[in-house]
Amino acid sequence: MQIAIVGCGFVADYYLKTLANYPDLQVAGVMDRVEERATRFSAYHAVPMYRSLAELLADPNVSIVLNLTNPGSHYEISKAALEAGKHVYSEKPLAMTMPEAEELVALAEQRGLLISSAPCSLLGESAQTLWKALREKQIGTVRLVYAEMDDGLVHRMPYQKWVSESGIPWPYKDEFEVGCTLEHAGYYVTWLTAFFGPAETVTAFSSCLIPDKQTDVLLDRNAPDFSVACIKFASGVVARLTCSIVAPHDHQLRIIGDDGVMGIEDCWYYGSPVYIKRMIRIRRKTFMSPWKQRYPLVQKPPKFGYKGSQQMDFARGVAELAAAIQERRPCRLSPQFSLHNNELVLAIHNALETGAPYKMTTSFDPIAPMPWAK
Ligand SMILES: NC(=O)c1ccc[n+]([C@@H]2O[C@H](COP(=O)([O-])OP(=O)(O)OC[C@H]3O[C@@H](n4cnc5c(N)ncnc54)[C@H](O)[C@@H]3O)[C@@H](O)[C@H]2O)c1
Repeated sequence: MQIAIVGCGFVADYYLKTLANYPDLQVAGVMDRVEERATRFSAYHAVPMYRSLAELLADPNVSIVLNLTNPGSHYEISKAALEAGKHVYSEKPLAMTMPEAEELVALAEQRGLLISSAPCSLLGESAQTLWKALREKQIGTVRLVYAEMDDGLVHRMPYQKWVSESGIPWPYKDEFEVGCTLEHAGYYVTWLTAFFGPAETVTAFSSCLIPDKQTDVLLDRNAPDFSVACIKFASGVVARLTCSIVAPHDHQLRIIGDDGVMGIEDCWYYGSPVYIKRMIRIRRKTFMSPWKQRYPLVQKPPKFGYKGSQQMDFARGVAELAAAIQERRPCRLSPQFSLHNNELVLAIHNALETGAPYKMTTSFDPIAPMPWAK
């Protein structure tokens, strides 16, 4: 299956590196509105290049458009791709507003196409292992989840020096303007909705604690750099999710059940070990074991071929979309699932100190685990 990439920026390198694990997926060509970027990227990865979006969309060999543009361009590019009859895999968020995201999903449905949104780490080894252990009721009935996506004081880090393998700088202005919730909350939101089903309500607080971020350029807008949300799932589970580029680095997940706690240390590593701490009873005392017991990963993650602050198989979501199209089956990262996650993340991002409970309007059918994790 042939895919075309729009957006040859920082993250595109990670996709190209991990696409190597999926020989059935071929890159028909790449484009960027900054031609120099596309030229450099095409030369570095030895892939063809399109001179314009129109040329890319007119290529009859292309089945999937991989939208790796900045969040502000996601809607426009995905819409154009769907209108040209292409399936879409979009980086997160699906769109910056719910009406836009709903329009994209409705358009895909009308045209008999699929649209999926990153992140795809739900399809990773750690997430699939946790999910299997949950289905086996390893910790009994789940009551509460604590999920953290804190990245430390990013504005004090040497982010101007962060470059991708092909030399593209980390887009800090855009990252700070979009905000860490839209950028990162999805890494856990997608796991939680897959594990516990659709969310019913979300009560969130978000705020911008460091307004100017002390960058060398003026920011056009101040996005929240801290958010905390309590999500109530229809299944009864409640999750607290924090997200910041202020609090010390912490990407852990703890799932609390009647019989123990299960978790991982970092969702950005597909091979993050899964542990269980069980409740112990000694005579008349019941307490949580201080020892972490390893729950074996369902399989070893492959090598991803790059260095970075994460070890994630970025291309796995595109591969899942391609397989779903070819096998004519529902995609695990279905349009409705992507839309529901987009709604949750936007609700948290938009809470901006109001803290008013938000009632969810979308839902999705249950997602199937990966065949190797059943
Ligand atoms: N930076 C990261 O570490 C990271 C990690 C995972 C996911 N992401 C996500 O990936 C996406 C891209 O992020 P990035 O870091 O690569 O950003 P980036 O700014 O480095 O690259 C985006 C590229 O898209 C191009 N672009 C923007 N609008 C376009 C349009 N309308 N037509 C054609 N080209 C267009 C830009 O010129 C740029 O080269 C974002 O959604 C981001 O949330 C980023």
